Amino acid sequence: MKQKLIFTEQPGVAIDILIEEMGTPQVVVVADTNTAQFVLPRLVNDSKSVASAKLITVKAGEPHKNLESLTGLWKSLSDMNATRSTVVVNLGGGMVSDMGGFAAATYRRGMRCINVPTTLLAAVDASVGGKTGINFNGLKNQIGSFSEPEASVISTIFFNTLPGQQILSGYAEMLKHALLKDETTLAKLLAYIPDGAGFDPETLLPLVEESVLVKADIVEQDLREANLRKALNFGHTVGHAFESFAFKSGSPIPHGYAVAWGMTVELILSHMEAGFSSETLHRFAAYIKQNYGSFEISCDDYPALIENMRSDKKNMSADEINFTLLSAPGKPEINRTASEEQIGAALDIYCDLML
Ligand code: GLY
Repeated sequence: MKQKLIFTEQPGVAIDILIEEMGTPQVVVVADTNTAQFVLPRLVNDSKSVASAKLITVKAGEPHKNLESLTGLWKSLSDMNATRSTVVVNLGGGMVSDMGGFAAATYRRGMRCINVPTTLLAAVDASVGGKTGINFNGLKNQIGSFSEPEASVISTIFFNTLPGQQILSGYAEMLKHALLKDETTLAKLLAYIPDGAGFDPETLLPLVEESVLVKADIVEQDLREANLRKALNFGHTVGHAFESFAFKSGSPIPHGYAVAWGMTVELILSHMEAGFSSETLHRFAAYIKQNYGSFEISCDDYPALIENMRSDKKNMSADEINFTLLSAPGKPEINRTASEEQIGAALDIYCDLML
């Protein structure tokens, strides 16, 4: 993988070293309205390259990851005479690294960027692996590119002001990486509860590092998601279906929670269709129920949920729905399919286990 990964409790120092290694170019910080107000001042104190950088602020929130904001970003880069050697520092969650990364990938045919994720979710997912882009025509990440940043500077010091719900949301992606790694890593994460009150940045950082390295290893083998990287979609077919269902019902749920419940259903399918251990499934489901609660569904909701799964962008065939299943922790089986009957049976078991 081209991208450097730096895990540190002194992100400002790490950024300065990186900028020096890159030949001390002009630096532009892209931040959203929240990180510009609450995180940037802290980094300005610790980093001379951030202190002397120009700032572009974008409106916070996924709905603003759109063509209008991107055009604004390109225009600001142009107005400040950014060149191909200028370095963009994306300071924020996944929305900022997705859009700032895409602006950097396309402005003057490509400039370098560094991601500095300020949420746990972005640290373990969006900031690593080079997926960049914007939402377009009502569809998520419809326009984009695979363009790896020069580096991600990952620090848990930014997370101690995040609400507990956001920490748990990121932790769900860490659980996914643990399921893709091995039984020992999974057991370690299931023994840790990253709740708002008990969350300790220093204990979390090594777990974050281990988690990011699982993703980095997969991305290194398959940057453009031709094969193995599809395993990173584990839990997301059902998770996205839950997320859309909740959104349409007017009670949106956080992405990571949807993934946590989606992984539970997909582990049930894995048990039914790929021999995943019942004991590990029960331990996982109990952890999710205890820390994330349950997504309430009834069998009347199955047709709408299955329809959402069918319209997921990963599904080409109308008859069967595509999944990554696991035969055991660390043993993903990509390009598996399940019928409506099999999904209905898995949702029945989810209701028995979780509700
Ligand atoms: N978020 C999954 C991936 O980067 O492939």
